[in-house]
Amino acid sequence: MKFYGQHILTSGQFDKEGLLSLFEEAHAMQKILEKGKKSSVLDGKVLATLFFEPSTRTRFSFESAMLRLGGSVISNADMMQTSSLTKMETLYDTGKVVSKMADVIVARHSTGGAVSEISRGSEVPVINAGDGAFEHPTQGLIDVYTIWKEKGRLADLTVGLVGDLKFGRVPHSQCKLLKHFKVKFLCVAPKGIELPEEMVLELKDSGCEVEFAENLEQAISEMDVIGMTRVQKERFSGESEYKKYAGSYVLDGEVLKKAKKDAVIIHPLPRVNEISVEVDSDPRAKYFGQVRNGVALRMALLKKVLVEE
Ligand code: CP
Repeated sequence: MKFYGQHILTSGQFDKEGLLSLFEEAHAMQKILEKGKKSSVLDGKVLATLFFEPSTRTRFSFESAMLRLGGSVISNADMMQTSSLTKMETLYDTGKVVSKMADVIVARHSTGGAVSEISRGSEVPVINAGDGAFEHPTQGLIDVYTIWKEKGRLADLTVGLVGDLKFGRVPHSQCKLLKHFKVKFLCVAPKGIELPEEMVLELKDSGCEVEFAENLEQAISEMDVIGMTRVQKERFSGESEYKKYAGSYVLDGEVLKKAKKDAVIIHPLPRVNEISVEVDSDPRAKYFGQVRNGVALRMALLKKVLVEE
């Protein structure tokens, strides 16, 4: 697959070879990061971050990545309130205009497809930092990179997807990436917010096994990867609907006793209460390490998109 000059809008555009080359690059970037060094590979390049929906990790992570590669950042964390969208400027025009001032755009929006609309107007690559309940490709990449680093492989793994698999855009992105490695998916979701049927079919068509369970305590012993996600409160029609599902699954010390000794626990964060704080000190907990991996992965992605190999 080609990275240079491309929009990164969906995990579906990644193939196996592209993923592995990105992970090798991220591994090299991680060495720069851990040495506290700064590269000049993106000297003179400007990143614009356009966030129409709240974020802590994704925006800072992209900005940190760009700065560590010698580039510069222009940023708006509250596009809904403080951009010319309030004067009825369209997303298409916003993409067109910002692309005259930046070399790459990272955008997040609460509506699925909105980031694609920005990319239609843009004359520079646009990277999807989360669009509604559709996808969050770079978070999916970070998760799969973390599994690759921790387990040394991606094939022959049983990956647990636990939580809100309907509205959780991260599990959707994880599925589209991991399907290339024919992993076995073990889906644990409350009735009503299960993995969409079309996603299940996509996984099966790719040769993956997909199993379902309702009880985390029973299912956890099979998992090589325990992929936790929060219930996506902001995607429900109201508080009462959200409360039907909130707190359905909690990974605490007791439940973790039943997990494999070499399991890897991931979570895109933020967490609400689906992982107890007592789990944080367990060596299997990799979710805070994932944040660091995310900077390296995004350094690699920015380099591949902006520098012709
Ligand atoms: N994982 C993630 O997308 O976090 P933020 O919402 O804080 O960016």
